[in-house]
Amino acid sequence: MSLFQTKSIESLQKEAASDSGLRRSLSRLNLVSLGIGAIIGAGIFVLTGQAAAQYAGPAIAISFVVSGLGCLFAGLCYAEFAAMIPISGSAYTYSYATLGEFFAWIIGWDLILEYLFVSPTVAVGWSGHFVAFIKEFGIVLPPSITDAPLAFVDGHFLATGHLINLPAVLIVLVLTCLLVIGIKESATFNNFMVVTKVSVLLAIIGFGVWYIFGHRELAAANWTPFIPENTGTYGQFGWSGIFKGAAVIFFAYIGFDAVSTAAQEAKNPQKDMPVGIVGSLLVCTALFIAISVVLTGISKYTDLNNAAPVVNALQAVGAPVALRFVVEIAALAGLSSVILVMLMGQPRIFFSMANDGLLPPVFAKVHPRFKTPYVTTILTGVVSAVLAGFVPLSILGEMVSIGTLFAFVIVCISIVVLRKTRPGVARPFRTPWVPLVPILGAGICFLQMYALPADTWWRLVIWMAIGIVIYFGYSRSRSKLTLAKGK
Ligand code: ALA
Repeated sequence: MSLFQTKSIESLQKEAASDSGLRRSLSRLNLVSLGIGAIIGAGIFVLTGQAAAQYAGPAIAISFVVSGLGCLFAGLCYAEFAAMIPISGSAYTYSYATLGEFFAWIIGWDLILEYLFVSPTVAVGWSGHFVAFIKEFGIVLPPSITDAPLAFVDGHFLATGHLINLPAVLIVLVLTCLLVIGIKESATFNNFMVVTKVSVLLAIIGFGVWYIFGHRELAAANWTPFIPENTGTYGQFGWSGIFKGAAVIFFAYIGFDAVSTAAQEAKNPQKDMPVGIVGSLLVCTALFIAISVVLTGISKYTDLNNAAPVVNALQAVGAPVALRFVVEIAALAGLSSVILVMLMGQPRIFFSMANDGLLPPVFAKVHPRFKTPYVTTILTGVVSAVLAGFVPLSILGEMVSIGTLFAFVIVCISIVVLRKTRPGVARPFRTPWVPLVPILGAGICFLQMYALPADTWWRLVIWMAIGIVIYFGYSRSRSKLTLAKGK
């Protein structure tokens, strides 16, 4: 009974080709749209401005290039795996095939940090935008129902006197219902959200370019110096600020990997997974770089440290009210689809882990009519709703980033390992320039992990320690691979 026993690629490919009970209904376009749906959200609407103001200045655009390159290299590795073994377990399954069961468990447990914690974090952001949006129509919700009862300030939990963040709870529950009803219905809703947010981002870029051309001197002054001088502290401007900025805005890129969790519901995963993963990433990278250049051109970066930097910057330069209004709608649409796609990813990873015996069999139940993993979808939705409604989530954003970066590092390493151990396996998509691309991917992702605060590392270690206890206490002895070998 080895900790490092691997599942064979052949058995995984057989599993991928067999009927999992899930419905294969997603087209190539749906997959690209799921990726964009998960990527564009709080990161671009909020973090870009804040990171420019605090760490990188106008050079936040370079931070987006650095972080985007790390994601692109990792995305190419994901694409190779997702086409070769199109199983919904994503990085968990890829590590099971390469590094063995223990690492697979660690990654499966780690992915919970990404998928389960992103949804409530973004739902709280959605609630803030929603409350501000309906206020424009004179509807004011009392803070007691729009804020969690606890806050986390300077390392301590404090009572806020409020009851619940109700809008955050409701958005999570509504999207959970949609996910239970069907993957096709969820993908259609996501398509609408994606069209809305991408159109609005293009409108902002269009307005920004027009404004900058009319105010060239102002824009030139805003962009000068492009890389503000370091203040003497690591991470405060200068090149270290660019790297710190990259680690912070990495959150904006999270989500393209969620496409791989829909592998068992794609019509043609071998061909379409790489397009979905890399395509969505390229579209979003181009949009992010353009938005960051425009934002720091129309506004001095020092003015961007607020809760709604894009809307406020547009307001400050007198953008038409209609544009500000649609930006609000786009932010709501954008955040809804992030919550939706991440709530979609988590149950599918649980589904694969339960199919392998590492989680209870009930986690692999598929609804007879809707063909969705409804038990885990409801579980994920309820846990996310509770977190969103009652728990202070300020610390979770960085936990999500460190967890996701860790998974990216492991996927990059796994590509190199599998090319060595199984060079002859059919690969419908091949990551170019192996081992250079995976090594660079792992390196850039590790540097971004390194730039995150020490507290975040400690929380990661504690989270992993809990996972290891569960593995040895429950999963190891129930692993189907172990049981099959013992027969
Ligand atoms: N990339 C997603 C966002 O920015 C998680 O909201």
